[in-house]
Amino acid sequence: MLSMQPIGYVRSPYKNVREIPKGLGAKHPAEGVLEILAEFEPGLTDIEGFSHLFVIWAFDRAEGCDLVGIPPTDDRPHGVFATRSPRRPNPIGLTVVELLGREGPALRVRGIDMLEGTPILDIKPYLSNVPQERLRRGWLAEAEARRGERS
Ligand SMILES: C[S@@+](CC[C@H](N)C(=O)[O-])C[C@H]1O[C@@H](n2cnc3c(N)ncnc32)[C@H](O)[C@@H]1O
Repeated sequence: MLSMQPIGYVRSPYKNVREIPKGLGAKHPAEGVLEILAEFEPGLTDIEGFSHLFVIWAFDRAEGCDLVGIPPTDDRPHGVFATRSPRRPNPIGLTVVELLGREGPALRVRGIDMLEGTPILDIKPYLSNVPQERLRRGWLAEAEARRGERS
């Protein structure tokens, strides 16, 4: 078994999962705050220089797990590891946010898709060296194409 402790909590405008945008093309413009616990604040040293961050967090209000399910972005089933479903064997979420500013242990960010009070497990600078042309979007690209065909 692994044991982890939150390094902080998300202050989010979303109190209920129904308020969070979902489905194909959903945007996440919401702003919020990553409130880091005082004991971990030294770990934020030099974070201001990064425009975007990976936030690793716990789906603390998810129940159960579906190894195969139909996501809100499609009408066909997919394996959990090919989706971003909250109902996974280890309920870990990953969100890329834009860093708007820092006030001590509080990081103001844009791009929140978590509920108020979500526990944060880790933060890392967003860095990617995968060229755009090497990225494949799997079934999502197919679902988008089908939607385009229907509309
Ligand atoms: C599709 S998941 C994607 C989350 C993250 N970007 C990822 O890829 O891991 C986002 C959904 O998780 C759910 N959610 C957000 N915060 C949660 C929490 N603390 N516990 C359980 N479910 C949560 C909401 O239904 C939200 O629409």
